[in-house]
Amino acid sequence: MTKDVIIACDFPDRETTLAFLDRFQGSRKPFVKIGMELFYGTGPDMVREIKARGHRIFLDLKLHDIPNTVKKAMHVLSGLDVDMVNVHASGTVAMMKAALEGLTRPDGTRPLLIAVTQLTSTSEEILHKDLLIGASMNETIAHYAANAREAGLDGVVCSPLEAGLVKETCGAGFLTVTPGIRFADAASDDQVRITTPARAREIGSDFIVVGRPITQADDPVAAYERCMKEFAE
Ligand code: C5P
Repeated sequence: MTKDVIIACDFPDRETTLAFLDRFQGSRKPFVKIGMELFYGTGPDMVREIKARGHRIFLDLKLHDIPNTVKKAMHVLSGLDVDMVNVHASGTVAMMKAALEGLTRPDGTRPLLIAVTQLTSTSEEILHKDLLIGASMNETIAHYAANAREAGLDGVVCSPLEAGLVKETCGAGFLTVTPGIRFADAASDDQVRITTPARAREIGSDFIVVGRPITQADDPVAAYERCMKEFAE
């Protein structure tokens, strides 16, 4: 699997999103992430429109429900022809297996399916006190990643700092998709466990998810090209 940069299109509406993507005409077409804000605001038509423009799409809806409901929802998402979708690993192995089943088309093809281990906004303290999980953050992440692999998923979303641990636990071919990326000379915003594109590459990320360092840059195309150069080339 070749390394790639995914731009998090965290925009509120269709117009802002398309105006942003228009800037990439004449350059290579980035892999983009559509999250809850844009999807709930604009619906499946936005996904189809971005796909028709030739972008690969990670539809980041983080499904978590009973296995049958997730299976049926994934069946609907597989019809959208996106390239990557996700679930929460805490939904259980049975739920992840059901997700995979729902996502697989009659001809055997399907988008990549990855699982969120622990959100990067969850600290060790929250894990113990709020979620009442006794194991450490790293034990929890390694266990959830192993569950995702057992269920047949392609990889996990995790902090870039945990990509090495996931590869050790699940093997080099198990994908790591990592947000929390910042340039060495830039602000960290509200992200805590961050690293640079170059360091994420060294640790073993397969895909980095980059939002504000590209979307809020004076020249988003140049910022994207910088990420590609540091991470993927
Ligand atoms: O702007 P920034 O680069 O921080 O955006 C990161 C993107 O990755 C956002 O869309 C955010 O919701 C997402 N994300 C994250 N941490 C996770 C999972 C997803 O930052 N653990």
